[in-house]
Amino acid sequence: MKIADRAEISPFYVMEVMKAAADRERVQGNVLHLEVGQPSTPAPQTVIAAAHRALDDHRLGYTDAAGIVQLRARIAHFYRQRYQVEVDPHQVVLTMGASGGFALAFLAAFDVGDRVAVTEPGYPCYRNVLEAFGVEVVGIPVDASSRYVPMPYQLDAAGDLDGLVIASPANPTGTMLTTDEMERTVRFCRNWGVRLVADEIYHGITYERAAPTALKYTHDAVVLQSFSKYFSMTGWRLGWMVVPEDLVRPVERLAQNLFISPPTIAQIAAIAAFDGTEELEANVTRYRTNRDILAATLRKVGLPFAPPDGAFYLYVDVGSITNDSPALCAAWLDELGIACTPGIDFDPVRGRQFVRLSYSESTEDITEAARRIEGWMTARR
Ligand SMILES: Cc1ncc(COP(=O)(O)O)c(C=O)c1O
Repeated sequence: MKIADRAEISPFYVMEVMKAAADRERVQGNVLHLEVGQPSTPAPQTVIAAAHRALDDHRLGYTDAAGIVQLRARIAHFYRQRYQVEVDPHQVVLTMGASGGFALAFLAAFDVGDRVAVTEPGYPCYRNVLEAFGVEVVGIPVDASSRYVPMPYQLDAAGDLDGLVIASPANPTGTMLTTDEMERTVRFCRNWGVRLVADEIYHGITYERAAPTALKYTHDAVVLQSFSKYFSMTGWRLGWMVVPEDLVRPVERLAQNLFISPPTIAQIAAIAAFDGTEELEANVTRYRTNRDILAATLRKVGLPFAPPDGAFYLYVDVGSITNDSPALCAAWLDELGIACTPGIDFDPVRGRQFVRLSYSESTEDITEAARRIEGWMTARR
């Protein structure tokens, strides 16, 4: 029987690494999870209490396709408070994680055959989903020399574009665009009629300075956000988009047809996420401690990495020890009991010389992982 060409979509390798780590854990126990891209903490207590109340008090039926008005209004308020940016609540669309947002944004903004640029390395699902939708993906190879931010000459060299996807802070590097770089990128998109899709899912998890939002500079971009990372609600499957006026109805129609509505209990509970700041900021403090521990060890053993401004990843250049990062990750899982993600997930070309280490787990686990990596590196000298 026929299988669609688009079903040839690449796997999201990190999910496969998680499977291998779980297999080893079942057999041998004791795996340190530096492959996971999610907080190791539950949702804040405010959210859990609100979810209990919702179970007791609500019917929990479908909602509007774009989400409940109270949460959309709360998110608009969040933009006013956090960024001093005015967002009309009707431009806020709740989605099934940022992932659900990609599907809606890409389908609404791009046609089959359009050309959309993504950075390499970058979050793999942008490329995979765009390709599944018949969009031509243009890779922009970024590196440590520009802190993995696309430079103007690289955008110019990409040829005619219909769209550009950026993430700041980025996965897998944790690097961020400065305000100047954001302004410059928005200007490029405006000048050339390129639809900007800005993934701001790691906002809130930043260490040296706050991340600038694209919304400060443009009303034409689609901005994606989520309750998965800063708000520590990964499995609740709730995110949002701020959508430009011309895409509000197209996105709403697509959402009605594709999903009907995002998870109702998650939406009701998420209103209380904005009151969980104390717990959420404590998570960021722990990520910072973990980052510093892991970064110090990597410096000590001579493994370079991008300067991590935010998120909870270090993208480590292991080119001095291998040109086969999947094999290195397999060896570390086998010999050290450390799961991590090979760079090929993020960069099909140069990813064989990189691994991504996530430091979102407990400080004890990250300290132990750093100790094992240091021992392994010392032993092979
Ligand atoms: C950059 C980036 N965007 C989007 C997502 C998807 O997140 P969500 O759980 O909101 O679907 C992730 C998940 O790791 C991510 O790293």
